[in-house]
Amino acid sequence: MDFRGKDIISIKDFSKETINYILDYAQDLVPYAKGEKYKDILNGKVLSSLFFEPSTRTRLSFESSMNRLGGKVIGFSNPAATSQMKGESLADTIRMADSYSDVIVIRHSQEGAARLAAEFADVPVINAGDGAGRHPTQCLLDLFTIKSEKKKIGKNKIVLLGDLKYGRTVHSLSYALSVYKAELSFVSPTSLKMPREVIDECRELGVEPTQTSNLEKAIKDADVLYVTRIQKERFPDAEEYNKVVDSYKINIELLQNAKDDLIIMHPLPRVTEIDPEVDKTPHALYFKQAFNGVPVRMALLSLVLGGKL
Ligand code: NCD
Repeated sequence: MDFRGKDIISIKDFSKETINYILDYAQDLVPYAKGEKYKDILNGKVLSSLFFEPSTRTRLSFESSMNRLGGKVIGFSNPAATSQMKGESLADTIRMADSYSDVIVIRHSQEGAARLAAEFADVPVINAGDGAGRHPTQCLLDLFTIKSEKKKIGKNKIVLLGDLKYGRTVHSLSYALSVYKAELSFVSPTSLKMPREVIDECRELGVEPTQTSNLEKAIKDADVLYVTRIQKERFPDAEEYNKVVDSYKINIELLQNAKDDLIIMHPLPRVTEIDPEVDKTPHALYFKQAFNGVPVRMALLSLVLGGKL
């Protein structure tokens, strides 16, 4: 498969075969992600890391991926220190990054920003989250995690919990899980339901997600529970946020009725939605999931830059 020069904007641009190929390649890269093996397949390549929104895992795992494969990183994590503050347009910032580097990773608060960036850049652009839109690289690491733990992606009952309205990770993941025909259950406060558009995408792929606000019932026979943070920064109205804050919490008591092999995932950061006491249970997969960002992003960088293992 030839990925050289390709943009990664939405998981909807990827076929099942392509996703499987990326996940298999990411598996081969695990020892490199852990630092147990080293090969400088991205020697001489430069990544522009443009984070207009806060990030810990996504930015650091992209940087780690690039460094561990011998490449270099330039960029910013605080747009207040850039010429955006002087009124520079996104298009002009992208033109500059395009001329200084071989690949651009962008996170932005505006939906569609990554797609716009791709129009102004010749080098590949990777969407690291665009507002409440999409988050394709998170989606791939989520799929990688489910496959690693459950040996398969389809045939699992997967509960997506929380802020399904503004959460970009669950928008991408719902689509991708439907490609694999997983059984989907969406659990959220009524004001934070999954957008119609995403449900329609699942339906077009032949999956009919169930929707409920009854978490206890939904997790009873679940194989995967994917928890999300309420996306406070996306609420136009603080009052609306106050109405839903603390509306769900995963704790040991709630897990009494869950399957023994239920895995709990979370893109992180978590705030109050998972009690830290859950961390020591065998259900907790979220930290391992975050590590999986490295082999998956290594795979993507090496494929778009044409430096395969
Ligand atoms: C998520 C994001 O930025 O969309 N975090 C991440 O990339 N791991 C989830 C969130 O911010 O809640």
